[in-house]
Amino acid sequence: MYNFEFYNPTRILFGKGKVEGIDRLIPADAKVLITYGGGSVKKFGILDQVKTHLGNRKVVEFGGIEPNPHYETLMKAAEVVRNENIDFILAVGGGSVIDGTKFICLATYYKGDATDLLRRGFRPITADIVEKVVPFGAVLTLPATGSEMNTGAVISYDHGKFPVMSEMTYPKFSVLDPTYTFSLPKIQVANGIVDAFVHTVEQYTTFPVDARIQDRMAEGILQTLIEIGETSVNESDNYDVRANHMWSATMALNGLIAVGVPQDWATHMIGHELTALFGIDHGQTLAVIYPAVMDVCREQKKAKLLQYAERVWKIDSGSDNERIDLAIYKTRHFFESLGMKTRLSAYGVTADQLGAVVQALEKHGLTALSENQSITPEVSREILQRAL
Ligand code: NZQ
Ligand code: ZN
Repeated sequence: MYNFEFYNPTRILFGKGKVEGIDRLIPADAKVLITYGGGSVKKFGILDQVKTHLGNRKVVEFGGIEPNPHYETLMKAAEVVRNENIDFILAVGGGSVIDGTKFICLATYYKGDATDLLRRGFRPITADIVEKVVPFGAVLTLPATGSEMNTGAVISYDHGKFPVMSEMTYPKFSVLDPTYTFSLPKIQVANGIVDAFVHTVEQYTTFPVDARIQDRMAEGILQTLIEIGETSVNESDNYDVRANHMWSATMALNGLIAVGVPQDWATHMIGHELTALFGIDHGQTLAVIYPAVMDVCREQKKAKLLQYAERVWKIDSGSDNERIDLAIYKTRHFFESLGMKTRLSAYGVTADQLGAVVQALEKHGLTALSENQSITPEVSREILQRAL
């Protein structure tokens, strides 16, 4: 196991009705900005509940944060935070609203051109770069990204998606009420299961470093998602299943299973370009790309793919290649059982468009991806071809 340091200060309020806790956790004299997306939280009454528990605090609203949140929209919100002297931001929504809010918190008092904050890749933004960061909390409505308990955000700008990382944007708290997911359309539930699944495998199907706890936690998350996936998609008001879905998604990307192990993230980086170029949802891109990554990278990932086959899918016979083939088949079949497509062609993407994806990866410096930097643009092209 590699050396590591672990820190995660986000307080979790989990369960039905736990939104009442925001009154205790947000300073009584704070002026609060509520950020939200296209309106689902208004339509389904979540915003009203939140406002009730904010009591007499002064509240300003900023709606319209779009899926794959845009830099320009977030900069408008930052202006509101400055002009209104906002003390605390409450993000109410899915990963896009929470990610967007993290960026607003960082950009509001940043002295230079805020596009600088998009150019650091996975290098964290620290207090010497941004001195003052507005604190925020979250009320999660879509279990998928893990943004409710991590330092990451992904911001859309100029036909690209840019990761922004900072320990200064851990949410102060996140409310995880499974009943808030009951209004989700099926496709978003499926996106959420796949996103949590692929976050887990990006930190697990790499190469072994004898990290037994992390491996078994990852396998536990994967097995839970497989067990509940279809029911979560099909039974919109099944509280227990949605509770397990929600906690799996948070645990998949709150840093716990990442400690002391190699990480991949190639599926995500290629997926981000597909979202930016073709508008395919984040979860949908992962369902297409991950099976192809398993296939193309089967040699470098061999030991962990065999472990995944045996422990997650109970595949215990056949040659190494046959076991890996069956694990790929079962993974693809699982995604499809949720109603996800697992081929690029199903989204209308054709072979002659793959060059543009590879060019975008090159433009963004994503030319040595995966746990051992072996995925060059040529290998990315092979993965995309295998995903057609
Ligand atoms: O905008 P509204 O009206 O709220 O509708 C949203 C949106 O259209 C809707 N929705 C959310 N909660 C709902 C609901 N509809 C009905 N009932 C509810 N309870 O769902 C749609 C999608 O929302 P979005 O927030 O975009 O989805 P998700 O949570 O999957 O977030 C995706 C974003 O997160 C980034 C992705 O790149 C993408 O931009 N990621 C962030 C990560 C992180 N911070 O760690 C890691 C991930 O890998 C990912 O890259
Ligand atoms: Zn993801």
